Amino acid sequence: MSAVLEVIDLSKAFDGVQAVRNVSFSVPAGELIALIGPNGAGKTTCFNLINGQLVPDAGVVRLDGKRIDGLPPRQIAHKGVSRTFQVAATFASMTVRENVELALLAHARRDGVLFERRPAAWHDRADALLARTGIGALANIHCATLAYSDVKRVELALALANEPALLLMDEPTAGMAHSMRSELMRLAVDLARGDRLAVLFTEHDMDVVFGFADRVIVLDRGSIIAEGTPDAVRANAQVQAVYLGPDEGA
Ligand SMILES: Nc1ncnc2c1ncn2[C@@H]1O[C@H](COP(=O)(O)OP(=O)(O)OP(=O)(O)O)[C@@H](O)[C@H]1O
Ligand SMILES: [Mg+2]
Repeated sequence: MSAVLEVIDLSKAFDGVQAVRNVSFSVPAGELIALIGPNGAGKTTCFNLINGQLVPDAGVVRLDGKRIDGLPPRQIAHKGVSRTFQVAATFASMTVRENVELALLAHARRDGVLFERRPAAWHDRADALLARTGIGALANIHCATLAYSDVKRVELALALANEPALLLMDEPTAGMAHSMRSELMRLAVDLARGDRLAVLFTEHDMDVVFGFADRVIVLDRGSIIAEGTPDAVRANAQVQAVYLGPDEGA
């Protein structure tokens, strides 16, 4: 199976701190891969290197076989890399549907397609994405008044408006009530399996990691120290020593 995302020997240092060191991994279509590790391990830096917010010191990033490292973030997004953030951001004064319409419009503009003048067309496309993310009933609600777990779903709908091949989710369930976390992750699994998205996510909630990831990659001080199935990673002595602790690994 060919990978949607391929990262080869990626490295990045900040003022003498080697944040990411010779990191290589791949993410195939239809799978959720978790990138985990202690605070400061280099997870967010990896995301920033993949989506172009940072330029790698060395290494290669390929999307569907084509190099994207060194390209500006807008261009990388346009090629099919969407990202959600640890702290979800939407336009609070606009309705849920308006937020998604704006994202669709931005994507269409980048595509250079003819401007669709009929508002109903944007409505319909936005509503399809809202239905896909389970928030169809909230279309006319202003984002400012949404529950946080629903804002996370809006953020996902905005990411999908870009028609991504690769979805990067930085701590998707951070700040959410425990009961809501599984629901959001089930949606992410559904998107991966149903729409053949490649999903890479970071997460500190080990129930989420071991419950939903197909494979887990563990970073420590910039380097990959383990990679494999959730069960194999949980049982890995080095992972337990630097991150999980004996209880979580048991
Ligand atoms: N823009 C920057 N300038 C300088 N140092 C940075 C910068 N971004 C990250 N770092 C450093 O690089 C290392 C990796 O940070 P990174 O944010 O990637 O970790 P992380 O694994 O995402 O951690 P967390 O779990 O806390 O989010 C840390 O030592 C951090 O201080
Ligand atoms: Mg981080």
